[in-house]
Amino acid sequence: MLDRIKKLRTEVDNYQVDSIDDLEIFRIRFLGKKGFIVNLFSDFKKVSPEQKREYGKLINDLKNSAIEKISHLKSVLDEKNDFVSNIDLSLPGDPLPVGSRHPISIVRNNIIDIFTRLGFSISEGPEIEDDDHVFSKLNFPPDHPARDMQDTFFIEKGHSESAKNHDILLRTHTSSVQVRDMENSKPPIRTISPGRVFRNEAISARAHCIFHQVEGLYIDTNVSFADLKQTLLYFAREMFGEDISTRLRPSYFPFTEPSAEMDVSCLICGGKGCNVCKHNGWVEILGCGMVDPNVLENCNINSKKYTGFAFGMGVERIAQLKYKVNDLRLYFENDVRFLSQFRSSI
Ligand code: PHE
Repeated sequence: MLDRIKKLRTEVDNYQVDSIDDLEIFRIRFLGKKGFIVNLFSDFKKVSPEQKREYGKLINDLKNSAIEKISHLKSVLDEKNDFVSNIDLSLPGDPLPVGSRHPISIVRNNIIDIFTRLGFSISEGPEIEDDDHVFSKLNFPPDHPARDMQDTFFIEKGHSESAKNHDILLRTHTSSVQVRDMENSKPPIRTISPGRVFRNEAISARAHCIFHQVEGLYIDTNVSFADLKQTLLYFAREMFGEDISTRLRPSYFPFTEPSAEMDVSCLICGGKGCNVCKHNGWVEILGCGMVDPNVLENCNINSKKYTGFAFGMGVERIAQLKYKVNDLRLYFENDVRFLSQFRSSI
């Protein structure tokens, strides 16, 4: 009898169960009317009086541990069932936060969108360039300050290729892409080149060593300054609204003649004067001009037959005006609290 009690006790102690039905079978086997415990108690009558005390205690312990075990397993199973039955599978899931496009990408896409509506195509080129495409073919004299170490990040000075000396550098403007376009295709050419450019500047609220440009080029017979003016006016109105005022100021670029810079009336103060427009009511947004005949000839385009205009703008500058966010550094830090404020369909 002692062995039987011990075996049953081990069975109770080790018992595990997954379902309420199995637990009920277990309960009946141990505690039911014909169960092990009742059987043990009826055999208990035959136990000798000296052993009654010891055996009685063992059987009672077995009974109590079976009762405890069953109630413990029942509460575990109930809890599990509650959890499963409390899940409402028809509820919508936790939403995944949707990212937003970077404000610089939004503005770049806006610019691209406006010019593609005018029939411009998009061209791209390498960020690591040679001196020819960034400077020489664009009519920069050999001692022009833009070639200086102060402005340009050089990768390799005096890189020698087929007996010619080339500097390898990070492009300082995307005009280099347009040189490649002129070399590789025949007029009419009507293209814009969006891209990242690099200038060796100390980073501040107003300047950064990396920024983005969209430059444009149109070459055909009889392209005039009036075409340039009208194209840029259309752009400014599409970008900033019908009420924007624009003006062209004479300027100088080695690759255009005549050259100009375009200002728009300051959107921050409405032209009254603020620190963004340096208190004169106008903000410069781009450089432009008629492509210098030397540039056309450098790229094997007949300058007697063809004329063209070019322009180039900084995407960050346009974004500053559009979003009225003046610290350039915010566009580069990628703080999601800043970025998530910009939503766009483009
Ligand atoms: N490439 C000039 C710049 O980087 C912009 C420009 C482009 C000016 C075309 C005139 C014509 O600032």
